[in-house]
Amino acid sequence: MSATTGTFNIGDTSVNMPVKAGTIGPSVVDIGKLYAQTGMFTYDPGFTSTASCESEITYIDGDEGVLLYRGYPIDQLAEHGDHLETCYLLLYGQLPTAAQKKDFDHRITRHTMVHEQMARFFQGLRRDAHPMAIMVASVGALSAFYHDSTDISDPRQRMIASFRLIAKMPTLAAMAYKYSIGQPFVYPKNELGYAENFLRMCYAVPCEEYKINPIFARALDRIFILHADHEQNASTSTVRLAGSSGANPFACIAAGVACLWGPAHGGANEAALKMLTEIGTVENIPKFIARAKDKNDPFRLMGFGHRVYKNYDPRAKIMQQTCHEVLGQLGMKDDPLLDVAVELERIALSDEYFIEKKLYPNIDFYSGITLKAMGFPVSMFTVLFAVARVSGWIAQWKEMIEDPGQKIGRPRQLYIGSPKRDYVPIAERVTK
Ligand code: CMC
Repeated sequence: MSATTGTFNIGDTSVNMPVKAGTIGPSVVDIGKLYAQTGMFTYDPGFTSTASCESEITYIDGDEGVLLYRGYPIDQLAEHGDHLETCYLLLYGQLPTAAQKKDFDHRITRHTMVHEQMARFFQGLRRDAHPMAIMVASVGALSAFYHDSTDISDPRQRMIASFRLIAKMPTLAAMAYKYSIGQPFVYPKNELGYAENFLRMCYAVPCEEYKINPIFARALDRIFILHADHEQNASTSTVRLAGSSGANPFACIAAGVACLWGPAHGGANEAALKMLTEIGTVENIPKFIARAKDKNDPFRLMGFGHRVYKNYDPRAKIMQQTCHEVLGQLGMKDDPLLDVAVELERIALSDEYFIEKKLYPNIDFYSGITLKAMGFPVSMFTVLFAVARVSGWIAQWKEMIEDPGQKIGRPRQLYIGSPKRDYVPIAERVTK
């Protein structure tokens, strides 16, 4: 990383700040000394122009529609690799050799079971709880079960916590699903691959053999790869912010799960599918497009637009292909929801409003249809996103903890409340 300086004026004051260049992508102005030099803070709600950290993990070029994990294009990873290879890459920075991959798969596999008492923990939750509520609770609860990997100053414990989170998230997610439908929990089976195991834990029942559909397993593995990391998005920033105080990794990932739940982030695939169902038929699309364009209507086309991508989301292209593979396998080429999705995409991509605002379909647009076809209820969609994203969260958390310059995250604010005033005894107060 090289550094130069940049000079700019604020009123009559000339300010000289370092400008740091990364490997690729925009440079940043290091404003760390701005307050000391000018007595002013910067103001950037939503961090639209603010880099919160240095990172070597993921690179996005939103204008060009590029996504790289540790330098590797997402389409190459999704086509040639598997999810555990991506997890290794995110954690260690390099693709594994065959021996390293075998060892890593073995380690993750050996951590898939959860403490037996977790089953009783689940019983304290309502059956009709949203599975994401169960995930927030159960991931947070891991810190109450695995004390031996919560000392963040010990590199070995940090790595064990990382393995545990990647390994146990699918088990917890499947338990959340089974709990919500009143079926017995299915233990993980170590001879299976990561996605296969997850499918089995979700869909197997004790009374019959479960046959894994290889197309579903491959599609799910791809979904995991595509969602594994996405640089400093809201949930990852939440994990980093929570971790910056020294909180244990399980608590930090639970914070990330909570943030992911929101409809503007991980909840969008659920919202996109609900919207397609609400639209119902191709004939209704113009009505919904008009609503999306109406400034007085809060309705937005779910699965469209992205804070960073102002071009086609590269993950959406792969997701679209995966979606067709799954529907083809099921003989569902004529699924009415898919018809609505394809037509909506076509209309939106040729509509002046969407072109001008660079609103392209994002990954959530197609992932919802795919997951539904595979039998997952809508309420599980964000849970699957969380299962995938845990690898990125934990890699980003580790990078932050291992950064010697790491400080507690503590944003500033522009105060717009009342100036200082004196306390008024209750008897003397008047209604304003
Ligand atoms: N439908 C209609 N109009 C939209 C949409 C949409 N989906 N998204 C943005 N706009 C308009 C918005 O009204 C605004 O118009 P104007 O400039 O006239 O006020 C303009 O585009 C810019 O929108 P913004 O909200 O300032 O943009 P943002 O970067 O803050 O928002 C977003 C990004 C993803 C939150 C937003 O596009 C959105 O709400 N999309 C729908 C939800 C969705 O699909 N989210 C999934 C994101 S991808 C998953 C992930 O990576 O986490």
